[in-house]
Amino acid sequence: MKKLIVGNWKMHLNLAEASLLVNRLHDQIKDPGAAEVVLCPPAFALTQLHGELGDMCKHEDCFKLGIQNIYDVDEGAFTGEISAAQVKDLVNFAIVGHSERRIHFGERDQKIGEKVAACIRHDIKPILCVGEKIDDRQEGHSKRVVSDQLSVNLSLVTPDEINRVVIAYEPVWAIGTGDFAKPKDVETMIEHIRRVIEQTFGEAVGQKIRVLYGGSVEPDNAKAYLDIKGCNGLLVGGASVNYKKFVAIVDKASS
Ligand code: PGA
Repeated sequence: MKKLIVGNWKMHLNLAEASLLVNRLHDQIKDPGAAEVVLCPPAFALTQLHGELGDMCKHEDCFKLGIQNIYDVDEGAFTGEISAAQVKDLVNFAIVGHSERRIHFGERDQKIGEKVAACIRHDIKPILCVGEKIDDRQEGHSKRVVSDQLSVNLSLVTPDEINRVVIAYEPVWAIGTGDFAKPKDVETMIEHIRRVIEQTFGEAVGQKIRVLYGGSVEPDNAKAYLDIKGCNGLLVGGASVNYKKFVAIVDKASS
């Protein structure tokens, strides 16, 4: 299976910079079909980038777009929010439950579960982020925290739908800190995530569901994560807005 490499640009870049980055990535990634690449720009840039990608990509294997956050209700008086129904023609993926949403915007597990369901309703693949905080880790609760997140965040997903979900394991203490997780620990957590999914949705699903790692991924550590048994790809933050770094990471996933 192709590795899935997701670039989360967060609240970086204006429209001209976003467009320049997409063009550079398109020019420099050697074999765009060898990995599945998803770019998640700030939402205001999606329409323009969708158009540009349509013009520059004449083949199936081009970049796909994702949105960094989505609202769970389809339509209504929710100032500033964007629904899955509104962007379903622009994006294939949506990041849901990122730790920055959980921490800075108070997103709770129940709401994240509703967002996952909204994505599925509109044929958008949710990239559900789970991961423990530093205190959980120090107290030895990492696995329990991740199991609890998964159980509520996936509570509205049916066995027929679960194969559309991507899970990203992102230990909160490793995000944007340079303090990246040891591949051995990531492997243990990915196994745990698959076991939790198996318990709810059956063994075959647990083995098949795509699980990514995210947290301070850089060109020089990407391969160590990509080589982990059961790791289907990467969710890249800081390094994804630097085209040289992101190209190097995608090339590693393609080799
Ligand atoms: P980082 O971010 O690569 O900058 O640590 C990862 C993420 O937030 O998804």
